[in-house]
Parts: sequence; structure tokens; C-alpha cells
Amino acid sequence: MYSFIATWPFALQAAQAAGTVLAAGGRALDAVIAGIHPVESDPAVESVGKGGFLNENGELALDAAVMDGDTLKTGAVCAVRGFEHPVDIARAVMEHTRHNILVGAGAEEFARRMGIPEAGMEALITPAAREAWQQVKTRGHDTIGAIALDENGSLAVATSTSGANGRISGRVGDSPIIGSGFYAETGVGAAAATGLGEDIMRTCCSFRCVDLMRAGLSAQAAAETVVRTAHEAIVRHGGRPDCIALVCMDAAGNTGAAANHKGFAFARAAQGLAPQVIEVTPVLDKDGENTFFDGVAGYER
Ligand code: GLY
Repeated sequence: MYSFIATWPFALQAAQAAGTVLAAGGRALDAVIAGIHPVESDPAVESVGKGGFLNENGELALDAAVMDGDTLKTGAVCAVRGFEHPVDIARAVMEHTRHNILVGAGAEEFARRMGIPEAGMEALITPAAREAWQQVKTRGHDTIGAIALDENGSLAVATSTSGANGRISGRVGDSPIIGSGFYAETGVGAAAATGLGEDIMRTCCSFRCVDLMRAGLSAQAAAETVVRTAHEAIVRHGGRPDCIALVCMDAAGNTGAAANHKGFAFARAAQGLAPQVIEVTPVLDKDGENTFFDGVAGYER
């Protein structure tokens, strides 16, 4: 039985594309990449790929990652400019290098060597992204995190994001960081996070979620436990958590999802289940304002 889950309603198109690959007997790895491609190309998705949020210098610098649960191999790129499909560069890092992460100009040079099409940064920046950048404090750090289980029982995960609007140039969020933004181990489970990368990284959400499934928790219980304990740990240590949300899947294709805020939803496809969007009831309701811009140098323009 195949199964697919991805973060946010904009991933409905990902569920459709990945579901087609999986229904035809395709690999989980190919399915997550196929799922992410249309979201990266959609200029209306303001936090991924073309049309994504700009950094403080007005640049579109994208992060992406992929992990093959069969081999535990992973590839990621950070702050890549001028490429519509950073997830393809991440896959090339995984498949054609001995490295896990390439950043910035080095990742761009590697992508050229790999023959990955280059669009040029300006071609990927939309008027809406420029406008959001001018306003600086527009919210947003909504990653696509996609997980697939194929007919052979293989799990894979991939992520892609522009990161938060107005971020300091060079900032890296959770999405290309293994164990924080994503993790997959065939036979155990996979997880992907979305929300404020700084909070997700300091609580290592995705690896923890997979480890809880390894220890016997259901996918849903693992997702809820990770989000709740991450939020509570930040509070306990004097912080104010921003958005933290997670989707996950166990080795049998059962899924889980949790968030510490209202409004989170995910897209789902599976054998016998048409692609659909499902809303998540928060495990707790993060109070008040988002905290990302609180006291962060570089946001006072
Ligand atoms: N979760 C995406 C980011 O914070 O960059």
C-alpha cells in the first residue's frame, strides 16, 4: 500500500503528483521529488520556490533537502539563488557527492556542473514577493515537507522552502537540516516539520518523532508528543515558541500530524484515497503574536 503526506493545503498539488507516481509503482524517492516540483513552480505559494519570500537584501535564496530512508543518505542545499527546483540540487548532492549539505555559491556552482536548469534569480521573484519584502513583517515560513511510502515499503522525505520573509542574508532554517526539518528511516518512519526553523532546530523535531515511532508510539501520538514537548521545553527555558508543526508516517503508511497553533493542515494521498486536504486540531494553542520578529537584528529597516 502506498501512502503520501505533505504539509499545508498548497501541497494538494503535491499529493496529486506524488500519488500518480506511487500508484504506478514508482519509488518513494521519486514521489516526494515529483510532489515538490509543482509547489516550487507555483508563484502563488509565497514560501516555496518561485514567488518565495525574500531575504533582507531582497534576494530569493532557497533551502531544500531530501532523504532516502532505505540508505539513510541525505542531500541538502541552503541559500541557493536562481534555481526553481532546489530540491533537484539536494537530490544531486545526495546521489553524486559524498557530502550532505552544500551552501550558497558552492551549491549553485555544483548545480551548474550537474546540468540542473538555471532560471536566474530575478525570473523567480514575483511582484507579490517584492511587496511582502517591502513590508518586512509579513508573516510566513511555511515549508513543504513531503513524505512517501512506496509499494516496496521504502520511505523517503523531502523539503523545500524560501524561509521566512526578510530573514538575515545567510540565515538557514530547519528545512535543510537533517533531524530537525526532516528524517526518514525505512522500516521505522519519517517526519517533516514546518514553522519557525529556529524553534524546530533547537528541539530536533523530526528525528525525535521518528525515534518515538521506533519506540512504539503511533504516528499520531509521536507527532503530538514532539510538538507538545518542543513547545513546553522552549517555554520551560524562558522562550516564547513560534509556530511548530509536524507531519509523520510510520513504516506501514499510517500518518500523524500536530501543531501548536490553529490553521495547520496537510495534504494526503493513499491507495484508495483521493488526494485531499485535512485540517489539524492544535495540540495546544500558542497564544498571542508570532515571535519571529521580536528583537531580531536586521528587521528594523
Ligand atoms: N521552516 C522553514 C524555516 O524556518 O525556514
